[in-house]
Amino acid sequence: MKIQNLSKTYNGKTVLDQFSVEFPSAGTVCLFGPSGCGKTTLLNCIAGLESFDAGAIEGAGDMKISYLFQENRLLPWVSAHENVAAVLHGSAKNNAEQAEKWLALVGLEGAGSKRPSELSGGMRRRVALARSLAYGGSLYLMDEPFQGLDAQCRDEMIALFQKQAADALKIIVTHDFQEAQMMADVIYILDGPPVKIMDKIEKNPA
Ligand SMILES: Nc1ncnc2c1ncn2[C@@H]1O[C@H](COP(=O)(O)OP(=O)(O)O)[C@@H](O)[C@H]1O
Ligand SMILES: [Mg+2]
Repeated sequence: MKIQNLSKTYNGKTVLDQFSVEFPSAGTVCLFGPSGCGKTTLLNCIAGLESFDAGAIEGAGDMKISYLFQENRLLPWVSAHENVAAVLHGSAKNNAEQAEKWLALVGLEGAGSKRPSELSGGMRRRVALARSLAYGGSLYLMDEPFQGLDAQCRDEMIALFQKQAADALKIIVTHDFQEAQMMADVIYILDGPPVKIMDKIEKNPA
């Protein structure tokens, strides 16, 4: 996927100014940068949820995108189980089995019947993580995916995504450098707004 000269201004505030970057078709890319630099805006543009003023994004249109938003965005009026099943398109029985499976994989077996308001913050984040894996895709956009999780749980979730979404491109936004180092094949150090690439760190440079 290729982002070329992307520009976007919100009411006079330029968040993207001819921003360009090219991503591989698989692997883990971390976008590391301070709050407010434009990371979420960039993900929203890639997802097609936000318009931009100029430039182009090539290659994202043919990818199935699973977007884990910065906020959990769970449906408050249904159970954790139904939140996961809601993104599935099989038979009711199959969706229920799949939802059960993903909830168990994020360590929430037994909590599926609870509504979001009955779960802790970390558990709600894990429901959102389970839903994103259940939906699946060739491109995962993950905005501060492990916020609110303790270190052990975060490590388990990192291992789970690396395994279950191994063939996908994972673009992960974080302001935790240790997290970026644990996961990434490539880390882009960003600053802004407007967002710019200050450095690029490759784990296994060719
Ligand atoms: N819908 C919006 N309207 C106006 N300004 C916005 C909007 N969304 C984001 N911004 C501004 O754009 C900048 C980048 O925001 P964002 O992409 O959310 O940054 P990050 O995710 O890196 O914290 C911030 O200064 C923010 O205030
Ligand atoms: Mg953000």
